[in-house]
Amino acid sequence: MELIAKTMAGLEEVLANELNSIGAQNIAIKKRAVAFSGDLKVLYRANLELRTALRILQPIANFTARNEHDLYKKISQIDWSKYMSVDDTLAIDGTTHSTYFTHSKYAALKTKDAIVDQFRNRTGKRPNVRVHNPTLRVNLHINQDQCSVALDSSGETLHKRGYRRESGEAPMNEVLAAGMVLLSGWQADCDFIDPMCGSGTIATEAALFAYNIPPLLHRKEFGFMNWKNYQPDLWHTVVKEAKDRIRTFDYQIYASDMDFRVVSIARYNIEAAQLTDKINLKRSKLERLEASSEKGIIIINPPYDERLSTDDIGGLYDMISSHLKHNFIGYTVWIITSNNEALKRFSLKHSKKLVLYNGALECRFVQFELYAGSKKKG
Ligand SMILES: C[S@@+](CC[C@H](N)C(=O)[O-])C[C@H]1O[C@@H](n2cnc3c(N)ncnc32)[C@H](O)[C@@H]1O
Repeated sequence: MELIAKTMAGLEEVLANELNSIGAQNIAIKKRAVAFSGDLKVLYRANLELRTALRILQPIANFTARNEHDLYKKISQIDWSKYMSVDDTLAIDGTTHSTYFTHSKYAALKTKDAIVDQFRNRTGKRPNVRVHNPTLRVNLHINQDQCSVALDSSGETLHKRGYRRESGEAPMNEVLAAGMVLLSGWQADCDFIDPMCGSGTIATEAALFAYNIPPLLHRKEFGFMNWKNYQPDLWHTVVKEAKDRIRTFDYQIYASDMDFRVVSIARYNIEAAQLTDKINLKRSKLERLEASSEKGIIIINPPYDERLSTDDIGGLYDMISSHLKHNFIGYTVWIITSNNEALKRFSLKHSKKLVLYNGALECRFVQFELYAGSKKKG
């Protein structure tokens, strides 16, 4: 099967590496997506195990269309009885980057019409549309006049791991958090600290990675389970094999935040992820933390002063860098922020800088090495 894993900007390469490790073939990086090929086992593993994929799609048709009539006609030419029956329910997700199709919802509506009309013409009955939990989710992507139609094997987006029961004010997308952990280069070979943990997303994704726990282990429903080619035995084997690969982790994962309320939310979420015994969570200001070992990795998602307002954002970043450089020598720090001015107050020289998007905010994800003697900016 030819397949596509969708992701966020900046995570394409780590996703390609993940795909390589689950046995995918012909891996090719695209914009916010990675194309690959694989059998049903690879498809199931992709949905269960990939940390940086949002959805796994199976393209079924590519064609050119410049108006709604073309689109309707081309969709009608696909034999939909191969993928669903009249008793199934249907949802269409549409995205358009096109001067021919300016409203993605309208393009999705035309696609839906073409599919239900095909069933009505053939059987006299039409399948129902269901936005939530349909039996078949179809993805329509239009780039100018290039249309691609794909079946969504994931169903609900894969960032919904199922452990986020509640969130703080600016919760991070789980796929972005996992992507940051993978991009940081951490090999689960030292302690991990998330000192501004909010609802606990980064620490949770770090723990799932450290123990090699599949991120979607607790999800019960995936789109492919309603497909005609679903093989439950193969799925159960894939889950069992992934569970057998869960490993031990010899270091510590620490998560803390100064806000009492968000720490209790993090506790609730970590419990839902069944990671309570794997993450050391406490309420603390960053400026009161001390290193617990000689080396480790710190990932910080501080307030940016965009969604959360902080009185003195520059002073906060100044405090973070000076506290870390005096108390965490030997550690590697990564910080994500959209606030470039505040980042300038970080009185350290960076060793890597990447671009990521936290929601709509363009962010820098920046690495600093903390070692004695060369702490200051050049
Ligand atoms: C952008 S949020 C983190 C969101 C988190 N990554 C999540 O997924 O929910 C920033 C957090 O920094 C915390 N914070 C701000 N100043 C702090 C300080 N001095 N020490 C510790 N935490 C602080 C806030 O309470 C807030 O929860």
